[in-house]
Amino acid sequence: MRRKRLAVMLVALLLVAALFSTVLTGCGGNSKQASEKKAEPIKIGAVAPVTGPAATYGKSTKQGYEMALEEWNAKGGVLGRKVEMIFEDDKADPTEAANAFSKLINDNHVVAIVGSVTSSCSLAGAPIAQRAGVPMITPTSTNPKVTEQGDYIFRACFIDPFQGTVAAKFVYDNLKARKAGVIYDVGQDYNTGLAEFFKKGFEKLGGQVVAYEGYPDGTTDFNAQLTKILDAKPDVIYCPNYYNDDGLIAKQARSLGFTGPIVGGDGWDSPDLVKIGGDAVNNCYFTNHFSKDDKRPEVQNFVSKYTSKYGEAPDALAALGYDAMNIMLTAIQNAGSTDGAKIKDALKNIDYQGVTGHIKFDANRNPIKSAVILKIENGKQVYVTTINP
Ligand code: PHE
Repeated sequence: MRRKRLAVMLVALLLVAALFSTVLTGCGGNSKQASEKKAEPIKIGAVAPVTGPAATYGKSTKQGYEMALEEWNAKGGVLGRKVEMIFEDDKADPTEAANAFSKLINDNHVVAIVGSVTSSCSLAGAPIAQRAGVPMITPTSTNPKVTEQGDYIFRACFIDPFQGTVAAKFVYDNLKARKAGVIYDVGQDYNTGLAEFFKKGFEKLGGQVVAYEGYPDGTTDFNAQLTKILDAKPDVIYCPNYYNDDGLIAKQARSLGFTGPIVGGDGWDSPDLVKIGGDAVNNCYFTNHFSKDDKRPEVQNFVSKYTSKYGEAPDALAALGYDAMNIMLTAIQNAGSTDGAKIKDALKNIDYQGVTGHIKFDANRNPIKSAVILKIENGKQVYVTTINP
């Protein structure tokens, strides 16, 4: 008897509770608005060049962004909300980049920006993000000036004073070169910076830069510069440019009779380098952020997931895009808020184990990370060594 009464009471209670909650959600305007706001996605701006002269960089980087974002959403999102990526193609053009950043901030009201890829584009976007108080992390821009634009600007990669020094040391110690020729695009911040840092590092070791030749952005015939360089009889040619230029430079240097090693920077990480350069880039070396042959389990796990999703192995840009998006979303989660200043503070304190290494920011919002040296053999990238800072 007692049991039956209890059961009836329980059913009655449940009915009342159900009724109450319907009334609340159905008619309570405020609580409905609040729950809708909570359900609205968090908007993240993302920028990369998917067309134009750095298109392979953009394709990989975007895939890295997407993969990270999808993993967060599959786990329930950030702060209990879905994350939405609003993507802009800057075509590796600084004017396009500035427009993209302004649009993302003013029209789309993104809470943070991941991008851009080339240093000149990040340099165009950073002051806009800084002024608006929108935190930004570039996955790949290595020129030191990028993070100098302000305290809202971070990066996931090492910087070029380090990359240039690593290249100089490798060329001097491992390739035993004593005379280097340098050819670089004077219209790009990345190229001019890296050329200079390499030169400084090589001279400090006792090497000699016997020719230092700039060319204007958009050049496709490098014979004038290469002839001057070859006249100076270098042991090695250093090419701190993007893949389209350096593929052609390597080919033209070989036609002019240069048989020594050609060395590049992270800008060489593109399937198109070998397509353009062909045999001319075999037995050449470049510094990079990541090797898919890294045996660390977190790397191999990423490589296999990425490869099965996109049908190709990740390059450094994919890995850095993935890390940068993860860092930004982790910072928002840690901040407990989408407020720009709070995200910026959370970024400062980040301690993140990424596929491209362990990421913690120094006082200038740059991570201290190691570099790898890769060799091109029969058109394939082969891991040579890792160099720690
Ligand atoms: N570091 C290059 C820049 O700053 C971009 C880049 C990174 C290109 C990694 C290829 C691979 O412009």
